[in-house]
This record gives sequence, structure tokens and C-alpha cells, in this order.
Amino acid sequence: MKKAQLGDLKVSRIGLGAMTMAGTYTSEGGLDDAESIGTIRRALELGVTHVDTAEVYGPFHSEAIVGQAIKGRRDDVVIATKFGLIQYGEGAPRVGVLDSSPRNVRAAVEGSLTRLGTDHIDLYYQHRVDPGTPIEDTVGALAELVTEGKIRYIGLSEASPDTIRRAHGVHPVSAVQTEYSLWTRDVEAEVLPLLRELGVGFVPYSPLGHGLLAGQIRTVDDFADDDWRTTNPRFTGENFWRNLAIVDEVKAIGAENGATPAQTALAWLLSRGEDIAPIPGTRRVTRVEENIAADAVELTPDQIHRLDNLEPVAGERHDDTNMASIDR
Ligand SMILES: NC(=O)c1ccc[n+]([C@@H]2O[C@H](COP(=O)([O-])OP(=O)(O)OC[C@H]3O[C@@H](n4cnc5c(N)ncnc54)[C@H](OP(=O)(O)O)[C@@H]3O)[C@@H](O)[C@H]2O)c1
Repeated sequence: MKKAQLGDLKVSRIGLGAMTMAGTYTSEGGLDDAESIGTIRRALELGVTHVDTAEVYGPFHSEAIVGQAIKGRRDDVVIATKFGLIQYGEGAPRVGVLDSSPRNVRAAVEGSLTRLGTDHIDLYYQHRVDPGTPIEDTVGALAELVTEGKIRYIGLSEASPDTIRRAHGVHPVSAVQTEYSLWTRDVEAEVLPLLRELGVGFVPYSPLGHGLLAGQIRTVDDFADDDWRTTNPRFTGENFWRNLAIVDEVKAIGAENGATPAQTALAWLLSRGEDIAPIPGTRRVTRVEENIAADAVELTPDQIHRLDNLEPVAGERHDDTNMASIDR
């Protein structure tokens, strides 16, 4: 597997997202922890060294699965996890409350270390920017955790260019993680050029368009009620059918060299630069094998040109509630 550079951190250029191991996209069967653990282990066997999770996935369940899967293999993997969407204090943790105060960061890291079964996190991201805490304070707390050896590198997720610049001024940021795929290209305007100026790597999340770009979803009529995508504008109403036509185009282009739509979507992302390390999410062994094989897919300049010029996606990338938590 070829490598990608995230600041000073080297990772396999295809990683593995562990979010669906704890739910979120629930329409295609229930959770199967044994299959999830097998998926992570198979990924490591095939050369993946970058596994992405977050305390809020589950909450907590995804980190626990990752912890079990990497037992005895800790040194083979870069573990990335995230804080800032759960507030700790008196009583039960408050899930969904933005809190990146230094006190909350310190509480969060201890829980993640325990669930992951490790004494250090390789890449620790702020999951969403907290308007109530200056980013300098949050990064200051993270810098202390680096000094203490509890985390190795710092990341930001869905941060604006201004926030990235301010954060990087306090302590080097190694990676920024934001949605990026054939149908979500907003980061190309300002974020990616800034990251290249600063020497910060980029981790595209939802590189398969929450599954649609992988080409197997043909209807949303039978989606489970609690599937996150049922309220996502790209999966609802007329937008869904328009977006399915884009997927068919991706499928046709990939078929020219025997690649699946998922592999084509990943190969296109990999063609964007050596500082780009997508983390396709899956909880199934067969799919992780398919996705990792995208490392060997070579798109021609003409195919890249056609993928660059697909019809624009229909619908905003998140619903209003989710968009409200994004730093812009
Ligand atoms: N920073 C953030 O705010 C943020 C937000 C969202 C996600 N993330 C991270 O990014 C990772 C990936 O994003 P994502 O899970 O939202 O979306 P994604 O990678 O675009 O798509 C995942 C979906 O595609 C399906 N899938 C994967 N490979 C497939 C294949 N070869 N064929 C058919 N279907 C396939 C998965 O199903 P199964 O799982 O059932 O196989 C899952 O439903 C997450 O795991 C998480 O670590 C971060």
C-alpha cells in the first residue's frame, strides 16, 4: 500500500473509518461486532495502517471495537480519534454538546485511551469547532497532551481556514478532516490550498458519499427510520434520483478498467495528491478488501477529466442541524 503524508505522520493512503461499526447507517443489517473486528484486522493484514474513530460514534462503541481489534497489534496502526461532541461534568455525559474547553479535552482523552486500550493516541482531532472556546485554548490543551505523551499529533475536523491558521500558530496541526468526494468538493477552493501552504495533510471523510457512490444502493424506500441518511438532503426526494444518475456515470467510467464504483471514487481522491488519505467506512470484510484494492487502480487522464466534470450533486451535504455545527 502506498503511503500518504499528514504533516510529519505517515499513514497508508487508504485508511478505514470505524463509524458504521457503531451504527449511523443502519439500513443494511444490525451491528455485528465480530465482523467489525474482523474487518479491522483484515485491513491491517492488507496494509492499512490508519484507523479512524471518535468517542461520539456509538457513543463509545466504535472506540471499544477498535481497541479490541488492535490488541496485540498496537504498533502496526495509527489510531485517530476525536473529542468535542460530548460534554463531561456532573452526571451523565451530554452527547451532542460542543465542548472543547481544556477541562473537557482532558476528561475526554482519558476515556478514549481506556476504551482503545492504549497509552497514547496517534492523531487526536477536535471533532467540531466549539464557538464557546477559543481555538488557541483548545490547541494549548492538546499541546500539553503531546508533551505528556498521551497524544502524538493534532487534527481538526470541519474547521474553517481562519481556525486552521490560528490553531497551527499555537502548535503544528498534522491533519484536517472534512468531507471530500466526487460529489463534495468545497474544500478545493480554500481549505486544500491553505493546508498545502502550511504543510498539513488532509483526510477526506465520507469518501463514498455515505455509501451511495459505492453503487449498491438503488432506493431509499426501505431505509431504516433511524438511518442517518433518511434526513440527509442528498438522499431525499428528487435529489436522490438525480444523484443516482451521477453514481451510474461513476460506475460506467470505472467499468472501463474493471474497477467497482467504490474503487473508482477512491482512486479519484487518491489522484488529488500524496497528502490525501481517505478513510472509507465499512464494517464488512469483503467491502474492506474491495476498497483497499483501489490502491492499485490507475485512472487515465481522460477518466479523471470525466470524473472531474460529473453533473453537480443535488442537495446540501448535511441537513440544517448538522450544517449549523460546521465552522465556516
Ligand atoms: N469528521 C467527521 O465529522 C466525520 C463525519 C463522518 C464520517 N467520518 C469518518 O469517515 C469515515 C467514512 O465516512 P462514512 O462512513 O460517513 O461514509 P463513506 O465511507 O462514504 O461510506 C460508508 C458507507 O458505505 C458502505 N460501503 C463501504 N464500502 C462499500 C463497498 N465497497 N460497497 C458498498 N458499500 C460500501 C458502508 O456500509 P457498511 O459499513 O455496511 O459496509 C457505509 O454504509 C467514518 O467511518 C468516520 O471515521 C468523519
